[in-house]
Amino acid sequence: MGDILRIGRLELRVLDLEKSVDYYTNVIGLEVTGREGDRVYLKAWDEYDHHSIILQKSDQAGMDHMGFKVKDIYALEKLEKKIEQFGCTLTRSSENTRLAEGEAIRFKIPTGHYMELYTDIKQVGTRVGVINPHPWPDGLKGIAPHRLDHCLLTGDDLETATRFYKEVLGFHQTERITTVDGEVTIGSFLSCTNKAHDLAFVKGPDAKFHHAGFYVDNWYEVLKAADILTKHDVQVEVTPTRHGITRGQTTYFYDPSGNRNEAFASGYISYADFPTITWTEDKIATGIFYHRREMVETFSTSLT
Ligand SMILES: [Fe+2]
Repeated sequence: MGDILRIGRLELRVLDLEKSVDYYTNVIGLEVTGREGDRVYLKAWDEYDHHSIILQKSDQAGMDHMGFKVKDIYALEKLEKKIEQFGCTLTRSSENTRLAEGEAIRFKIPTGHYMELYTDIKQVGTRVGVINPHPWPDGLKGIAPHRLDHCLLTGDDLETATRFYKEVLGFHQTERITTVDGEVTIGSFLSCTNKAHDLAFVKGPDAKFHHAGFYVDNWYEVLKAADILTKHDVQVEVTPTRHGITRGQTTYFYDPSGNRNEAFASGYISYADFPTITWTEDKIATGIFYHRREMVETFSTSLT
């Protein structure tokens, strides 16, 4: 593992804040940890930091930024220099720009999305604690994922985006989708941990958000997630199935603003020397939906 520890937070823009809080608490099963102005802060039960999801009231759905947590201030300063050298415009946000957060650096990545790196955030712990903990707390609601797991974004120049994440931020590429001749990258799956992906891109318009993936334990929990969605009358875009890419198990659905969410389980582990797996465009549907081997139309067109 390098200087970047993990995906730490996503700030999502939502249209109706109260409706969204109801969805993210009762259907997804996150806990509200703070509220200030037009923002509500939430975390999954198994996360120690103050929040991993920030809902920001807006007139347009989508992602404000993704934040990755860095191991310490020295690593943050080192990364800041490398990001500037790559040519990204960078700003520093001061402590308490948002609730419970310390300083962060904010910059635009080659696909036009905003990313933040930070090391300082208040740690609030979990309800099971860290001394002789039970495996899960009582009173969980909804899907109750362990954590925010990854996000998928769209962008045009995925070669440059991949180079930025590998060379500047120290990610490794676990998988890629290319045109059959291998010339153009149309999907790139990147990891800064030993997970199958922490961040992924598929070819599409710049600066758009495809989905946020929440981690659940296993295949049965993915099935149960879909049961919970139907119980709550939430639109399910893709019923439980398996990905070829990552080998994860999955179901996709939408939050009340149209931001896509995923309940994701399993997937292999990867190390820094993991050889990049290639999927060719003619097998893209098998890579994404391993059983049906057919694309779901909305899956590539519905973006926020
Ligand atoms: Fe995903």
